[in-house]
Amino acid sequence: MFIRSYQSKYQFVLFSYSIVLVILLFPSSIISLINFKTACELLKLPRDCHCQRTRGVPISSLNETRLRCRQLNKITTDYHWAIVPYDRLAFETPNDNLTIDRYAFADIRARTVRFNVQNLFLKDHAFDNAYIGQLAIAHLDTYGTLNFELNGEVFYGTTITNIFIKSIDFQRPISEIIFSNAKIYTFNIISSKFYGFTNKKYITNQHNETNLPNKNQHDNFLEYDFMLTTRSSYQTSSQSSPLKIRQRKKKTISHSIFESSSDENSAQLPDQTVTVNITLINLPAYITIYTILSSINTTNLTENYFPNNFEYSQTDEIELSYNYINTINAYAFRYLQTFEGRLILTNNHIQYLSPYAFANLYLLNNLSLANNSIQNISSIHFQNLQQLYDLDLSYNQIEKLTNQTFRYLYNLHILHLNNNPLKYIDSDVFTNLTYLKEINLQGAQLIQNIDPQYSHWIWNLANLHVNYLLNTK
Ligand SMILES: *[C@@H]1O[C@H](CO)[C@@H](O)[C@H](O)[C@H]1NC(C)=O
Ligand SMILES: *[C@@H]1O[C@H](CO)[C@@H](O)[C@H](O)[C@H]1NC(C)=O
Ligand SMILES: *[C@@H]1O[C@H](CO)[C@@H](O)[C@H](O)[C@H]1NC(C)=O
Ligand SMILES: *[C@@H]1O[C@H](CO)[C@@H](O)[C@H](O)[C@H]1NC(C)=O
Ligand SMILES: *[C@@H]1O[C@H](CO)[C@@H](O)[C@H](O)[C@H]1NC(C)=O
Ligand SMILES: *[C@@H]1O[C@H](CO)[C@@H](O)[C@H](O)[C@H]1NC(C)=O
Ligand SMILES: *[C@@H]1O[C@H](CO)[C@@H](O)[C@H](O)[C@H]1NC(C)=O
Ligand SMILES: *[C@@H]1O[C@H](CO)[C@@H](O)[C@H](O)[C@H]1NC(C)=O
Ligand SMILES: *[C@@H]1O[C@H](CO)[C@@H](O)[C@H](O)[C@H]1NC(C)=O
Ligand SMILES: *[C@@H]1O[C@H](CO)[C@@H](O)[C@H](O)[C@H]1NC(C)=O
Ligand SMILES: *[C@@H]1O[C@H](CO)[C@@H](O)[C@H](O)[C@H]1NC(C)=O
Repeated sequence: MFIRSYQSKYQFVLFSYSIVLVILLFPSSIISLINFKTACELLKLPRDCHCQRTRGVPISSLNETRLRCRQLNKITTDYHWAIVPYDRLAFETPNDNLTIDRYAFADIRARTVRFNVQNLFLKDHAFDNAYIGQLAIAHLDTYGTLNFELNGEVFYGTTITNIFIKSIDFQRPISEIIFSNAKIYTFNIISSKFYGFTNKKYITNQHNETNLPNKNQHDNFLEYDFMLTTRSSYQTSSQSSPLKIRQRKKKTISHSIFESSSDENSAQLPDQTVTVNITLINLPAYITIYTILSSINTTNLTENYFPNNFEYSQTDEIELSYNYINTINAYAFRYLQTFEGRLILTNNHIQYLSPYAFANLYLLNNLSLANNSIQNISSIHFQNLQQLYDLDLSYNQIEKLTNQTFRYLYNLHILHLNNNPLKYIDSDVFTNLTYLKEINLQGAQLIQNIDPQYSHWIWNLANLHVNYLLNTK
C-alpha cells in the first residue's frame, strides 16, 4: 500500500517534471516557429513568392524577412504586404509585365525593394506612406519600361533613401505628381531613356472621391518614424539617410509631415496632412540629390527636366552629366529659383548657351560645365548668378575673356578655366572679383603666347593661387 502510493506519487512527479522540462527546453523555438509561419502566412503569399531565411539570423527576427517573387503579374492589396518589415523584397519577371495596384505597398517598410521586370506599371498611391531604403528598378541587357498611372501620386507620403533606375525606357515624359508629398534622398536615373516631366503643378484630379485620406495612415507613419529615430531598428545601412537631412534643414521644412516629434500626438500634424481633398493638391517633394546620367537624348535642355513641385531649397545637388545636351534653352532652370546647391552639367556636348539659360539661378552656389564644347560666354550668361562660389568651365573651347565676362560674379571664389584654348584675356577681367582666391589655368595656350606688355594682370593675381603659371615662364 505504502509502496504503491509512493510509486504513483513518484510517477506523477516524474510526469509533471517531464512536461515542465519540455516547456523549459523548447519554448523559444516553438514561439519563433509560430512567429515565422505567422508572418509569411499572414501575408497570404501568392504561389510565386517565397520567404527566404537569412543565414545566421534568428528565425524569430521578422525584420529580416526576405521575399522573392517570380513570374508574378499583379500585386494587389489582397496580400497584406505591410504586415512585416522586410530586409529585401525582390520581384523578378524579366520577360513579363508587373502591375503594382493602388495602395498595394502602402505603409510598407523595407531596406531594399527591387524590380527586374519587362514592363512595370505603378498605380496611384502604390507606395503610399512607405519607408524604403533603396528602391531599384532595373533591367538586364535590354531596356525595361516603367509606366505610371496618369496623374497618379505613386509615392505619396513615402520616404526613400535612394531610388535607382537603370536601363529603363520611360517612353514618354512623366508627371511630376508621382513625387507629390514624397521625401527622397537620392534619385538616380542611369543608362536609361528619360524624357523629362510634364510639369503640371496644379492638377484637377479625376478620382477625387476614392482617395480620402485615412488619418491612421499618417499615425502609423509617425510611429515608424519614431521607431526609426530612436531605436534605429529599420535604419538603412546608408549613413546619409533622409532623416538626417531633415534634421540639418529642419527650419525650412518644419511644416512638412516628416517633422519628427518625440510624442506621437496627432494634434501636432500640420493641416496639410489631413486635407480631405488630398489628391487635388500636388504637394511638394523633397529630393536632396537628383542625378540623371547617360539618359537624356534630346539635344535641347528645357525646364521639363526639372519638376515644378520639388522644394529646391532642400536640394543639394543636381547632376545631368554624360547626356547628349547640346543647347541650354532660355529659362531652362526657371523652377530652380530657390536652389542653393551645385549644378553639374559635365561631359555633355553643350555648345550653345542661351543668354538667359541660367537667368533663374539667383542662389546657385556651384556650377560645373566642364568637358563640353562651349565657345562663347558673356556677362549676360552670368548676370543673375550673384551667389556663385565655384565656376568650372574647364575642358571647353573658350578663346576669349573680356573685362565684362565675369563682372557680375560678385561672390566668385574659385574659377576653373583649365584646358581651354584661351587666346585673349582682357587685363581687367578678374579685377573686381574681390573674393577670388583660386584660378585654375592649366593647359591654357595663352600662357605661352602672352605679350608681356599685357600680362600685368597676372602679377595682380600675386595673392591668388594660380595653378601652373609658375611652370610656364
Ligand atoms: C505587357 O505590357 C505591354 C506594354 O504595355 C502590352 O503591350 C502587353 O500586352 C502586356 N502583356 C501582357 C501579357 O499583359
Ligand atoms: C469630384 O468631386 C466633385 C465634388 O464632390 C464631384 O462633383 C465630381 O463629380 C467628383 N469627380 C469625380 C470624377 O467623381
Ligand atoms: C531585428 O529585430 C530584432 C528583434 O526582433 C532586433 O533585436 C534586431 O536588432 C533587429 N535587427 C535589425 C538589423 O534591425
Ligand atoms: C475637392 O476640392 C474641390 C475644389 O476645392 C471641391 O470643389 C470639391 O467639392 C472637393 N471634393 C471633395 C470630395 O471634397
Ligand atoms: C538618340 O536619338 C537619336 C535620334 O532619335 C537616335 O538615332 C540615337 O540612336 C539615340 N541615341 C541613344 C544613345 O539613344
Ligand atoms: C533647340 O535649340 C536650337 C538653338 O537654339 C533652336 O534653334 C531649336 O529650335 C531648339 N529646339 C527645340 C525643340 O527647342
Ligand atoms: C561649392 O564648392 C566648394 C568648393 O569648391 C565647396 O566647398 C562647397 O561645399 C560647394 N557648395 C555646394 C553647395 O556644394
Ligand atoms: C574631362 O575629360 C577629361 C579627359 O577626358 C578627364 O580627364 C576629366 O576627368 C574630365 N573632367 C570631368 C569633370 O569630368
Ligand atoms: C562664338 O562666337 C563666334 C564669333 O562671334 C561665332 O563665329 C561662333 O559661331 C560662336 N559659336 C557659337 C557656338 O555660338
Ligand atoms: C570694377 O568696378 C569699378 C567700380 O564699380 C567699375 O568702375 C569698373 O568698371 C569695374 N571694372 C570691371 C572690369 O568691371
Ligand atoms: C579692360 O579694362 C582696362 C582697364 O580699365 C582697359 O585698359 C582696357 O582697355 C579694357 N579692355 C577693353 C577691351 O575694353
